[in-house]
Amino acid sequence: MIIKKADIEAIAVKPNQYPEANVPEIAFAGRSNVGKSSLLNLLTNRRNLARTSGSPGKTRTINFYKINDEFRIVDLPGYGYAKISKSQSAGWGEMMEMYLEGRPNLLKVIQLVDIRHAPSAQDVQMYDYLRHFGLDGIVIATKADKVSSNERQKCINTIRKTLKLSLEDKVIPVSALKRTGYEELLDELEQLITNDFGVTE
Ligand code: GTP
Ligand code: MG
Repeated sequence: MIIKKADIEAIAVKPNQYPEANVPEIAFAGRSNVGKSSLLNLLTNRRNLARTSGSPGKTRTINFYKINDEFRIVDLPGYGYAKISKSQSAGWGEMMEMYLEGRPNLLKVIQLVDIRHAPSAQDVQMYDYLRHFGLDGIVIATKADKVSSNERQKCINTIRKTLKLSLEDKVIPVSALKRTGYEELLDELEQLITNDFGVTE
């Protein structure tokens, strides 16, 4: 698949701000600072489509990006950001639940984890949640440029083991910095969308 067109369509904190559920959606979830927005920019070949930041907690809303007028990539707010208050993190939970459990056109949630570290307790919790709702199956190992090619497989094995992935589950290493690994992800996205007969236009 080639991404020819990408536009922000909505920035939402509650369902009445979502765009119409008329095309399939694939969402990116993961710890704050893991590289969700950077990956979106890499995929769409746009440096600043999604705002990125060295300081965690940049994306605190649900951001909908329309791709090729065909489907959406949804950038979800990151978790595990220590500096937010209890009420803010309760708001995060409610915002995520409303989207993840109530969105009829949500095909899949791709979980991002940092290739360098074993997934955190929150990563495991997130993936278990996705598994429970049948939204699991694809994990992206971000910042792949930070480990050598020798270490890479070992890191992926740790991710597989910690998230208790099955053999069918995929782990795709990607580097937004080196601009590598995203072709495999684009193929996965294409497959997901072509297999979805229900809600395409
Ligand atoms: P929140 O919006 O806070 O949830 O974070 P995010 O997951 O959207 O992360 P973001 O894309 O803003 O990236 C966070 C930091 O990681 C930025 O400083 C990026 O430049 C850096 N980063 C992202 N991807 C890569 C990568 O592949 N390699 C390296 N070395 N750094 C990366
Ligand atoms: Mg972000």
